Amino acid sequence: IPVAAFDLVIFGGTGDLALRKLLPALFRRDAAGQIPVQARIIGLALNQQTTAEYRYQVADALQHHLETSELQSDLLERFLGRLEYRVTDVSDLASFQALAGVLDEHPERVRVYYLAVASVLFDPISHGLATAGLTGNNARLVVEKPLGHDYVSASHLNAQIGDVFDEHAIYRIDHYLGKETVQNLMALRFANALFEPIWNAQCIDHVQITAAESLGVGSRGGYYDTAGAIRDMVQNHLLQLLCLIAIEPPYRFEADAVRDEKLKVLRSLRPLSGRKVLDHTVRGQYLASSSSLAYTEEVGNLASMTESYVALKVEIDSWRWSGVPFYLRTGKRLKAQSAEIAIVFKKPSHLMFGELPTPIFPNVLSMRLQPDEGLRLHIMTKEPGPGGFRLHDIPLDMAFAERQDAGWRMPDAYERLLMDVVRGDQTLFMRGDEVEAAWQWIDPIIDAWKASGSKPEGYEPNSSGPISAIEMMARDGRRWREIE
Ligand code: BG6
Repeated sequence: IPVAAFDLVIFGGTGDLALRKLLPALFRRDAAGQIPVQARIIGLALNQQTTAEYRYQVADALQHHLETSELQSDLLERFLGRLEYRVTDVSDLASFQALAGVLDEHPERVRVYYLAVASVLFDPISHGLATAGLTGNNARLVVEKPLGHDYVSASHLNAQIGDVFDEHAIYRIDHYLGKETVQNLMALRFANALFEPIWNAQCIDHVQITAAESLGVGSRGGYYDTAGAIRDMVQNHLLQLLCLIAIEPPYRFEADAVRDEKLKVLRSLRPLSGRKVLDHTVRGQYLASSSSLAYTEEVGNLASMTESYVALKVEIDSWRWSGVPFYLRTGKRLKAQSAEIAIVFKKPSHLMFGELPTPIFPNVLSMRLQPDEGLRLHIMTKEPGPGGFRLHDIPLDMAFAERQDAGWRMPDAYERLLMDVVRGDQTLFMRGDEVEAAWQWIDPIIDAWKASGSKPEGYEPNSSGPISAIEMMARDGRRWREIE
């Protein structure tokens, strides 16, 4: 369904995010016929170049990030024709006035300002837009993480952009919320009568959320070494996933109804601080191998105390989740690139067949975010044959890829999220109070790590992470699922 005509302005239009994610996603939406003919995409950056040169640069990026079969010449030509480039210095009001000249050609259109730039520029850009009269009712601001590095800086950022834009015009992207499996999690819970009655402490033993990456920090060492896995992945992506598993049913699939429920979950996370942090968390840092550098070498800081892996045991103080731990882990340079949510159900209350074979927990619902998006429900069944009565665990499998023949394609998260901004739907975006509540829970953990003075534990590249993470689970009589 085509969206309304819009002008999308990308601050940081020549940066990595724009070239690698935003423009390829927009190309795909255009190819799918969702972008109206009049829509314009205006790239802004400091580099001195013309629109023709920008189009050339974007065409090159599309060739790198999309399949050749997608880049049919008529589609490419149409898309490149939408692009304009403006040399912009965000510290200079004249740049904003020049932008106003371009946008005011179509005052009725939805205007999206995408800040694909460092967060120190959020304030000058928002105020520059306001001074040039560019923040009317049809204007929307999109910002990306890192949204602060602690509660104080996040609330300061919220106040800066909130000074100019109403909360209903601010779209804080967490690209995990745009992933298909994550949206499917809501469909699974709230569009089926089957799961909701068992989605609680009576039936669920524990939950595991894993976001494992096989690559190291690569060229992002400068940023990453100031953030670490907890700020880079847990404060945002993993806590957002936890929220969607744990929320009470919203009264409607509508932005504030969903976000109010997520906020309640964040506020009911049991605080971790002091000594408890050391029992409930594990930090790791990858070591060198014969073919790869150690984390400390890769970021060029041999004394680095930053974690490239973190595992946490999180508890939620609520009626529904009392006594059900959520185990979260994420790390770089692990044995596979794989992200999943696993809901591990309790054993039957009476085992009339005797002890169960491995795995210890018979029913697991795993939702795979990537790769190979899909759902898998493990069910105990009888092994066929006239012999004894042997039990076997067989998964009921739903791989989304198998639906491709029905015309399904797994879109990139940005495709969905960018179109939601134009449509004015904030359901899959974080509200300011959610971001702040997440930091309020995270800050004492980071403080306790610092106070302990201890270094993250080294782990072998291509492994499942630090030994202590396995021990943390074992202390609870549980084990992590394989990363595969
Ligand atoms: C980003 C992090 O937000 O998410 C990266 O900054 C991480 O460090 C990335 O690699 C993971 O995203 P995805 O979609 O590849 O799981």
